[in-house]
Amino acid sequence: MNIQIIMNNYFKKNLVSVEDIKREDVDVLFNRADEMKRLVEEKGGDERLKNKILAALFYEPSSRTFSSFITAMQRLGGGFIPFNGMANTSVAKGETLEDTAKVFSTYADIIVFRHPEKGSSSQIARTSSVPVINAGDGIGEHPTQALLDTYTISKHFTSLNSLTIGMIGDLLNGRTVHSLAKLFVKLGIKNFIWVSPNLLKMPEEINNLVTRNGGKLVETEMLADVIGEMDVIYDTRVQKERFTDIAVYEKLKLACVINQDVMKKAKKTALLMHPLPRVGEISAEVDEDPRALYFREQIRNGLYVRMALLDLILNK
Ligand code: NCD
Repeated sequence: MNIQIIMNNYFKKNLVSVEDIKREDVDVLFNRADEMKRLVEEKGGDERLKNKILAALFYEPSSRTFSSFITAMQRLGGGFIPFNGMANTSVAKGETLEDTAKVFSTYADIIVFRHPEKGSSSQIARTSSVPVINAGDGIGEHPTQALLDTYTISKHFTSLNSLTIGMIGDLLNGRTVHSLAKLFVKLGIKNFIWVSPNLLKMPEEINNLVTRNGGKLVETEMLADVIGEMDVIYDTRVQKERFTDIAVYEKLKLACVINQDVMKKAKKTALLMHPLPRVGEISAEVDEDPRALYFREQIRNGLYVRMALLDLILNK
């Protein structure tokens, strides 16, 4: 089977949404991520992306996503243009996204893009002559986070289909949960529990996708009542930067806190995950719990999955 043909076809060059991913390509990507893990552990990396350049254009704060893309590129011998603060560049002079795309696709072979506006990644992908990876478009999507999270989960369960997935926190504004829910539906997962304050519920669009695909959905504000049913406990922070009234944020930010007592109610085999940063919604005392994977696995896997993606997209 010619993997390269499948991948090129699947991305149609760009990865702006989970909708760009085909079911069968997830396996291809995860196998390649396994290879990358071995490569990093054995040799630190290689030169397969020598002479390729990645432009990381970030208009919103980032630590993990930005640095893991840069690290991924470096471990494969490639170069990069690191703009973690695009708002301070020509954008401040009023340059449009379309013009920015034209400029950076002249320098680079791939653009990784983060921006506060939903839909901005597709906008830039339309003008760019090189592939674009969405690293977060406002409250829209964050597809590479969904891929690395699913890769992490796949290492713990033989089959994903029968899992009950819990998502907790700001489900309205959190782009990670939007992409992750879409990917889970694509992978045939049917059981979902959403836990959030009423004001921060999962968008209807995602709920409709779940039910249209035969999924079962429980929505509640009470984590303690449902945590015992979850195989994956995916927690997220309340997204302060999306609130116009900061008093509302202050009221909701710690509506749901996971501490040791809460974890006592969870399954022994459950996975506790978080895209990070966390700002109090998981107590530090929980970090030592063997079920807590955010520091232990998600960050490393983010590197392997992003190395695999860059290799599959760029290494023709
Ligand atoms: C997330 C993001 O930017 O959406 N961070 C990340 O990329 N790991 C989550 C968040 O900021 O809450």
